[in-house]
Amino acid sequence: MRLAVCSSKGGVGKTSTAANLAVVLGRTGRVLVVDADPQDSLGRAFGVVSKSREDSLAGLLENPDADPRAVLRTEVAPGLDLIPAHPSLETVGVTLAGQGGIVTGIRRVLRPLLADYDHVVLDTHGDLGNLTLSAVCAADAVLTVFTSDPGSALGAARVTAFLDLHRRFENTVAQLVGVACSMWDKDGKAAREVLGALEGTDLPLLPTRIPVSRRVPSSTLAKRPVVLSAPSTPVAVAYAALAQDVLTAYASMPRGA
Ligand SMILES: Nc1ncnc2c1ncn2[C@@H]1O[C@H](COP(=O)(O)OP(=O)(O)OP(=O)(O)O)[C@@H](O)[C@H]1O
Ligand SMILES: [Mg+2]
Repeated sequence: MRLAVCSSKGGVGKTSTAANLAVVLGRTGRVLVVDADPQDSLGRAFGVVSKSREDSLAGLLENPDADPRAVLRTEVAPGLDLIPAHPSLETVGVTLAGQGGIVTGIRRVLRPLLADYDHVVLDTHGDLGNLTLSAVCAADAVLTVFTSDPGSALGAARVTAFLDLHRRFENTVAQLVGVACSMWDKDGKAAREVLGALEGTDLPLLPTRIPVSRRVPSSTLAKRPVVLSAPSTPVAVAYAALAQDVLTAYASMPRGA
């Protein structure tokens, strides 16, 4: 599976979800984690910070002759290798967009590495811009997340429309594998309303909800996703269940549309 975690807005739990799902998938296979967000939060979730553009996805996108293995951080967690981002990714993305090199850029960078991995997990910027499109074009499945914010249900619909459009343009084969709640506030009225709105659509809502937990932000500070640092806590158990939901949905996803 090549999974891109996307949303049409920021701060909804994409990076936390991507990092924890990647660690869970790494328990049973080799996983390549790709940080496609100039904010470089996914790398930071594992304590990886790239010092220069050349030492990151930005350099690999910019220079088709660069060797992706030279940029790879190996075993950032059991079973996981990582390609970090760098803030320069933003300008590299803009330049490449002008040259026509962004849409297939990440797909090209990853191609020589794919045979080494069972899964690829890509984290994206909180928008549906060019870098997100590039990540989606390298993926065959997209997971989007929502919170108790009332705009969340709309965000999930926007990701679906974005995917439909780019499949029509033949930029990608990726399908929406699921819509997951990344911050479930069990006592919140807004959370229930958002969930109700999504249940009334035909979007592929995944059963597991990740509870709101202080352990998630503190694990970022500790540079170890919560499924590594506290695997038996309810939030870590929920991430493990969500990974299973995604694999199950992926296995039954229609192919070749
Ligand atoms: N289940 C959770 N419980 C509590 N806090 C959470 C949870 N999931 C994520 N957070 C926190 O919410 C904030 C946003 O999460 P995260 O960085 O994963 O979102 P994002 O969608 O990747 O944001 P951005 O669009 O800025 O990249 C972070 O401070 C994170 O620690
Ligand atoms: Mg993020």
